[in-house]
Amino acid sequence: MADVITLQGLTKRFGQQTVLNGVDLDLQSGEILGLIGPSGAGKSTVIKTTLGMEFADSGSAKVYGAEMPNRVLLGQIGYMAQSDALYTTLTGRENLEFFAVMKGLPKDTLGAEIDRVAQVVDLTGDLGKRVSGYSGGMMRRLSLAIALLHSPRLLVLDEPTVGIDPALRIRIWEELRRAVQAGSSVLITTHVMDEAEKCDRVALLLGGKVMAFDAPAKLEADYNVDTIEEVFLKAEGEL
Ligand SMILES: Nc1ncnc2c1ncn2[C@@H]1O[C@H](COP(=O)(O)OP(=O)(O)O)[C@@H](O)[C@H]1O
Ligand SMILES: [Mg+2]
Repeated sequence: MADVITLQGLTKRFGQQTVLNGVDLDLQSGEILGLIGPSGAGKSTVIKTTLGMEFADSGSAKVYGAEMPNRVLLGQIGYMAQSDALYTTLTGRENLEFFAVMKGLPKDTLGAEIDRVAQVVDLTGDLGKRVSGYSGGMMRRLSLAIALLHSPRLLVLDEPTVGIDPALRIRIWEELRRAVQAGSSVLITTHVMDEAEKCDRVALLLGGKVMAFDAPAKLEADYNVDTIEEVFLKAEGEL
């Protein structure tokens, strides 16, 4: 296994507020790593700093051994931001076409690839509608479909399943597992604890630090509890 993402002593301040206070983390090739923590814990900041969208005050963030931002690597990453960045006056299909072209997908396979990702997020029947008429959950699904285009070797997903119903959530997790089996690696943030159980490893972000980092079953054993939710509550009590 090789390091896909390596964070060492990552520290990030916004004004007087220290949001990340020495975060150490690694994502290994072929795993799903879940970053969990309460709202405001700094999960999105970890992702943005990792991808070079925010600069760290100290420490280092590397993706495939390189400092970000790196244009070549960005083309290999499927990033889904927490807030949807979609063209609302265009249809779902037009959005997918736009991002597919941006990602350099070959014209001859573009249609088939759009159909594939639309099916994963169950948007096939809605692709002809304007995004301005989509619900919040549909917009999340379209953003996820865009991230999945071209089967990137690294998926970075910031709360991808917010507003998505349980049945589709299960399908999305099956797709993530399938992507990993095909050689991708996934960094995902969530505050849904049952999703944390589905990750290969889970990192608990609390007080600007990674308080616990291991396989879900190992964390539950270490903390002598049955669920990640309880691990989380115990770790919070230790702060
Ligand atoms: N660009 C910014 N400027 C100032 N404060 C920010 C900025 N981005 C995030 N923060 C603050 O950093 C903290 C962590 O935010 P965030 O990383 O979005 O947390 P999470 O994703 O875990 O909910 C919050 O208190 C938030 O208000
Ligand atoms: Mg966030």
